[in-house]
Amino acid sequence: MVTASAPGKAILFGEHAVVYGEPAVAVAIDARVYISVTPCEGIWKMDGYALESGRHPHVVSLRNAILGESSEPQAIQIRSELFPAAGLGSSAALSAAGCAALLSLSNQDLDEERIATLSHLAEANAQGGRASPIDTSTSTLGGCVLVSNQKESFANWRYSRTLETPEGERMWEVHSVDLPPSASDIWLVVGYTGIHASTADLVQKVADLLANSPNKMESISRMGDVARAGVAALSQGDYVEVGKLMDEAHDLLSSIGVSCSELDDMVTVARRTSFGAKLTGAGGGGCMLALTDKPEETAAALEMRGGRVIVTPLGASGVVMENSYEN
Ligand code: MEV
Repeated sequence: MVTASAPGKAILFGEHAVVYGEPAVAVAIDARVYISVTPCEGIWKMDGYALESGRHPHVVSLRNAILGESSEPQAIQIRSELFPAAGLGSSAALSAAGCAALLSLSNQDLDEERIATLSHLAEANAQGGRASPIDTSTSTLGGCVLVSNQKESFANWRYSRTLETPEGERMWEVHSVDLPPSASDIWLVVGYTGIHASTADLVQKVADLLANSPNKMESISRMGDVARAGVAALSQGDYVEVGKLMDEAHDLLSSIGVSCSELDDMVTVARRTSFGAKLTGAGGGGCMLALTDKPEETAAALEMRGGRVIVTPLGASGVVMENSYEN
C-alpha cells in the first residue's frame, strides 16, 4: 500500500481572474486529503465502488496518464479533512496526492513540477478545459503560491504552466512567496456556508458573463491589480492593507456574480474582528475567509451564524508520502 497526502488551499486574491491570466495568490491550509492505493483483484475501485470517469474524473485522468488505462487494478481509499465542493481545493488536493501515490506505486520520480503539471491537466479535464494552476500548484508546493502572467522578481519562480483552453492558449508563471516572520501571529478563519458549489459551473458562468458583457473584463483586470498589491502588502507584513484589499476583492467577485447572500452575510460578520474578509475559491456558496489576529473571536462569530469553520495558519506543507494510513 502507498499513501500520500496534500493540503487544501485558500485563495487570498485573484480567483476567477486567474483563469484569464491575471495573478492570484493562495496559501496551503492545515486540512489535507489522504489517498491510499493498494493492489486488488478484478477492477479499479474507489472507496469500495467501481472507479468511474463520471464520478472521479481527476483520478481516472491521472491513472490513464501515469499507469495506463489497462494497468493492474488498484483499490483507492480517500480520507478528507476538507469540506467537499466548498472552494478549498479538495479536488486539487486529491489530484496532487493521487498523482504522488500513483507515481510512487510505479517507482517514478516524485518531481513537484511533474505532480503539479499532471494534476493541473486532470483538473482542466474535469473543469471543461478552463482551469488555472493555482489550486493544484498550491496543493503540490504548499506554503504561499503566486501564479502570474509574468515572472515576478519579488517571488521565487518555480515553473511555467501552459494550457489550451476554449479561449486559446494560456500561460502562467508559478512562484513560491516567502512570508515575513510576523505571519506566524496571523490566522485565516475559513467559514463554510454549507452550500455545495460546482467550480466548473461557476467558471462557465463567468465565461458566459464575459462573453455577453465584455465590459466586465474591467473587474477581472482590477482583480489582477488587487492581487499584485495584495501579495506586496503580504510580503511586507502589512496585514491592514492586505485586509482592505481582501474587502475590495470580495466586492469585485460580487460584481461578476459569484457571491451569494450567505457569503455576503458571513463576510460582514467576520470583518468586525478581522483585517478583512472575502469569499474564497469559486464562490456561489462554498467558503469565505477572514485574515485575523483574533482567530477565536472571528471563529466564534461565524459559528454563531451557523457556519462551520477551519482556523489555519498561512501555509502548510505541500504534497507528501505518508508512512501510515489511518481511516
Ligand atoms: C477555484 O478554486 C479557483 C478558480 O479561479 C478556478 C481556477 O482557477 O481554475 C475559480
